[in-house]
Amino acid sequence: MNAAIIEAERVSKTYGRGPTCVEALRTLDLTIRSHELTILAGPSGSGKTTLLSILGCMLTPTSGTVRVCGVSARDARPEALAAIRRQHIGFVFQSYHLFSTLTSAENVQLALDVRGERGPEAVAKSVAVLGSVGLSAKLKSFPRELSGGEQQRVAIARALVADPSIILADEPTAALDTENGRAVMAILSSIARARGRAVLVVTHDARLFHFADRIVQIEDGAIIRETRPDASGSGAPDPNASRAGA
Ligand SMILES: Nc1ncnc2c1ncn2[C@@H]1O[C@H](COP(=O)(O)OP(=O)(O)O)[C@@H](O)[C@H]1O
Ligand SMILES: [Mg+2]
Repeated sequence: MNAAIIEAERVSKTYGRGPTCVEALRTLDLTIRSHELTILAGPSGSGKTTLLSILGCMLTPTSGTVRVCGVSARDARPEALAAIRRQHIGFVFQSYHLFSTLTSAENVQLALDVRGERGPEAVAKSVAVLGSVGLSAKLKSFPRELSGGEQQRVAIARALVADPSIILADEPTAALDTENGRAVMAILSSIARARGRAVLVVTHDARLFHFADRIVQIEDGAIIRETRPDASGSGAPDPNASRAGA
């Protein structure tokens, strides 16, 4: 059985108070496992980013528990949450979040620098991980000299360089064309299948669903369906369906 990397139990999140409050997540249970690419799909406003942020210990649930590699984030102090994130989690965002004044290699090295890893070993690790996402020829390029797809691959390398147990990616292909979106999904899939990491990707692009080992669909803050595309008779979503939500 693949190892449980992040476990969410009865997680709820309410933003604000009183009549204008928003119930973004409603007593939701979800376990994300190693060796699997899980896609989290759902319409705009269904709670995907809220859930990803809570799983990544960036946001505290209103109630419920999150455990990362067996460690409970409940009632943890901000420094303890930061330590969990540093040790176990790599984040990838829609808009890359690269430093424009740093090269690809420097952007990746920065992730090691904040962990106290510097010098030739850190440089070698960064070069190797950029090679693994097909960017050996772009080590000294600045973000403005790279395509969107290449910038996202630098961001994936940065998320990967400290060897996290899980990669959490919020709409990583939303700003990319079809071909680059597929290339990014193929890399994320190999991080799960070849490296054995847990990978959770938010996307509502049904054309990318076939990259998933498992698809979890949420609506109004609750899981409404879970499928495995390769399981026969699983009722996997139609890959030709148009983009749901926006
Ligand atoms: N910081 C916030 N304050 C108040 N409401 C929020 C906040 N963030 C998200 N929401 C609301 O919570 C719901 C879920 O949002 P979100 O998790 O961003 O959904 P998704 O990523 O699926 O589009 C939406 O109704 C959204 O408006
Ligand atoms: Mg979102």
